[in-house]
Amino acid sequence: MSKIAPVLPNTAPFAQDQIAALNQVISVTTAEQRAWLSGYLAGLQAANDPQAVAPAAPPAKRVPLTILFGTESGNAEAIAAQARKVAAKLGFAPKVFDMADITPAQAAAAENLLIVASTWGEGDPPQRAVDFYEALMADSAPRFEKTRYAVLALGDRAYAQFCEIGKRIDERLAALGGARIADRIECDVDYEAAATGWLDATLERLNAEVGGKDAGASIIHVDFARPVTDGFTRARPFEAEITEHVRLSGSRSSSDTHHVAVSLEGAGIAYEPGDALGVVPSNDPALADALLQTAGLGGNDTLRSALIDRLDITTLTSRQIEDFARETGVQAPPADWAAGRQVIDLLALAPGKLSAEQLTALLRPLPPRYYSIASSRKAVGEEAHLLVAALRYTAHGRDRAGVASVDITARHREGDSLKVFLRANQHFRLPADPDRPVIMIGPGTGVAPFRGFLQEREAIGAGGHNWLVFGHRNYTHDFLYQLEMQDWIKSGLLTRLDVAFSRDQPEKRYVQHVLWDARQDLYAWLRDGAALYVCGDANAMARDVHAVLLRILADQGRQDADAAKAELDAIRRDGRYLRDVY
Ligand SMILES: Cc1cc2nc3c(=O)[nH]c(=O)nc-3n(C[C@H](O)[C@H](O)[C@H](O)COP(=O)(O)OP(=O)(O)OC[C@H]3O[C@@H](n4cnc5c(N)ncnc54)[C@H](O)[C@@H]3O)c2cc1C
Ligand SMILES: Cc1cc2nc3c(=O)[nH]c(=O)nc-3n(C[C@H](O)[C@H](O)[C@H](O)COP(=O)(O)O)c2cc1C
Repeated sequence: MSKIAPVLPNTAPFAQDQIAALNQVISVTTAEQRAWLSGYLAGLQAANDPQAVAPAAPPAKRVPLTILFGTESGNAEAIAAQARKVAAKLGFAPKVFDMADITPAQAAAAENLLIVASTWGEGDPPQRAVDFYEALMADSAPRFEKTRYAVLALGDRAYAQFCEIGKRIDERLAALGGARIADRIECDVDYEAAATGWLDATLERLNAEVGGKDAGASIIHVDFARPVTDGFTRARPFEAEITEHVRLSGSRSSSDTHHVAVSLEGAGIAYEPGDALGVVPSNDPALADALLQTAGLGGNDTLRSALIDRLDITTLTSRQIEDFARETGVQAPPADWAAGRQVIDLLALAPGKLSAEQLTALLRPLPPRYYSIASSRKAVGEEAHLLVAALRYTAHGRDRAGVASVDITARHREGDSLKVFLRANQHFRLPADPDRPVIMIGPGTGVAPFRGFLQEREAIGAGGHNWLVFGHRNYTHDFLYQLEMQDWIKSGLLTRLDVAFSRDQPEKRYVQHVLWDARQDLYAWLRDGAALYVCGDANAMARDVHAVLLRILADQGRQDADAAKAELDAIRRDGRYLRDVY
């Protein structure tokens, strides 16, 4: 059995004796230590000449530090909150702002600015950060000449526009005269340790430059793995027993969607409707074996178990293609080759060319997946319900299966346990006022959080009207939670239920068509103060729904497209247009 250790390749830009010395150290580090080190070194690497940074102010107590985050699902917010704690301990007076609540002019007044921003869609800003982002990119943006700043970008290397928003904000602030105090860090899905290292280095550096209360004091280590409320994290998930595992799609359905209930007994996971559960999946052992065979590394049990439980053996990134080409000497395929392909396709370009160490170093850690919680604790007690659609498709001649969705639906059954942790989403909540009407647009698995919303509203006896718009392929096979919905119509909890089954008639019919047909009522509900929620597919559905909402506001409000956009923006700023899309 060979030992798996990360090593620098011989091609690293060091002398051979340096490579040997570094490898000696690296080989005994943990993955987390290596990620911290890489973040720390990135943070130390000032992009500009330190002399060019505005001279340090005379040491003063409590130097102000503005920490600004742009988030969709809360990661950037969590990092901002941790940065605030560390900065406060160092003697800064940190203030944390959501990009949703601040303008670039206000940000430009900050002398010290730390930005944490994620990227969504295909290189887009998080929804609530759109106004800030657009104002920053506009010709009328303020100058940032008074501001020292640094940017931590969050993203996922699986996307072509990796960390695009952090990148653009960083470049824009420099163009507007800001003084960059540390190189931007671009974090992948396993961002915790790298972000920690970068924050440590950046805040230390800023502290040294501007002289906070304890200038020169060393940083208190940020620990993202520290329990927030319940103590369960992706690194230390809760083993939740599956108490119910039911396929909801009919036997003749072309989709394969399951209702999965897990017991949270004893975990203290106090979720709210709108939150998601993180699930730590395992890879398909058959795929791990196929990978080992392609790599010519069969028989290595340690590697096999790492491939099943620890490493991402499917996602293919452009960086991996470059690394693979460098390590094996094969010519790197063109950038668009990766589309629809996975790691196994890359290995098949040069079978048997990598050692176990090289293969391990090529792969990133296996990221968790998130599933909206489809229940309310007030209705189900210490359980959480999930609605999981198994992803299966064929691409480039191979049958492919979604890692987590197929792990949960096909390789787990009642009585097994799932590794879970809470991912709270403060930005996707029922209105505080139980009498406010809500419109919930949730086709496919997008209906999941709305089942939780409805259970909650029923349990608290909320008086507000509830309108659900659901869609899928066929009425007969794909009407998820149909009986419950019908009961809720009967009981009056559901004031209105509209459905769109795309394949039940010659022309495709989707939720946006239903919304258009119901535009008069929809407009009346909105005028009545209804909160509108959208959940589900980010690419086609959320975009089409957004477009039809604009059309409806223009048509029903008898206004032009600009005025309709302004009205929808105002509804969004009012917290009445909320999306949880993926
Ligand atoms: C906040 C949030 C809530 C969510 N809630 C739910 C939920 O309630 N229910 C639910 O089922 N899912 C939900 N998801 C999605 C879920 O997290 C997973 O992304 C989904 O289950 C797929 O994960 P997987 O591991 O099975 O697939 P992966 O192994 O991650 O594969 C997905 C990747 O496969 C590729 N791919 C997919 N289809 C094709 C194709 N046709 N051709 C080529 N390539 C393709 C794409 O690159 C895609 O990114 C949610 C996501 C988020 C962020
Ligand atoms: C639907 C969706 C689209 C995404 N698009 C991108 C992208 O284009 N580029 C990128 O680098 N990351 C992308 N990501 C990854 C997120 O940026 C990453 O998960 C980040 O940690 C989220 O941070 P937040 O919780 O602060 O929003 C996407 C994630 C999802 C679920």
